[in-house]
Amino acid sequence: MDERTHEPLGRLLRAVGPSHDARQSAMLEHAVADGFPTVGPEAGGVLRLLARLAGAREVFEFGSGFGYSASWFARGMDGGRVILTEYDVDELALAREFLGGDEDAYGVDFVFESGDAMAAIDRYGGPFDLVLLDHEGARYAPALARVREKLRPGGVVVADNVAAGPVDPEHLVAMLEDGTGAGDDLGRDASWDVDTETEGIAAYLDLVRTDPAFETLVLPVDEGLAVSVRVD
Ligand SMILES: C[S@@+](CC[C@H](N)C(=O)[O-])C[C@H]1O[C@@H](n2cnc3c(N)ncnc32)[C@H](O)[C@@H]1O
Repeated sequence: MDERTHEPLGRLLRAVGPSHDARQSAMLEHAVADGFPTVGPEAGGVLRLLARLAGAREVFEFGSGFGYSASWFARGMDGGRVILTEYDVDELALAREFLGGDEDAYGVDFVFESGDAMAAIDRYGGPFDLVLLDHEGARYAPALARVREKLRPGGVVVADNVAAGPVDPEHLVAMLEDGTGAGDDLGRDASWDVDTETEGIAAYLDLVRTDPAFETLVLPVDEGLAVSVRVD
């Protein structure tokens, strides 16, 4: 997409929606004031759409912040639960406030897991309908390994920040174009000084594109969402 179509398309996306409910408007206001990196409204709309299409009732988030992405999942669900995980206790406390604590603000149950998402996932057996990766790029591939067998067939994994934000898009694309296999074999030139976030995202995208159990598409929404559906 060139620049001339990109900007009108962005405006069109914003004009058509999705729009925030009152709770989400307050959340985004807080994010802007605090400089906190949420998925953003358009990506949020994708999360809601996927929850709706998947008939999601069991959702797990790696990296929940103060609950913005969880609110979008919840808006696409007809009951069920969203499990939030967060290192930062202050963010998690805010999530409880914004999402109404144990009273299900959106008609779903929210479970608030404090601490490392990589440990929390082992306390849940699934089957999950939807999983969000939004914690650290370097941990996306290990997180996928932990949830792979807990995803139901037709279940969806969404990875945020795969095209922008903390990643270096030039290096990312070059690695994926040149890469011949998963893991450390991503065709890196020895002279590249690739940061761990970019390398982690590249390893993750290489993993899902080569795993026959998944069909993956990168959506150019907000900072880039990789959507992978479990097909067997
Ligand atoms: C990009 S923010 C999440 C935003 C959230 N998904 C949203 O859209 O509202 C990433 C969050 O993940 C948390 N985090 C990073 N690594 C984590 C881990 N291993 N376990 C739990 N939380 C983690 C960070 O503290 C940060 O608040």
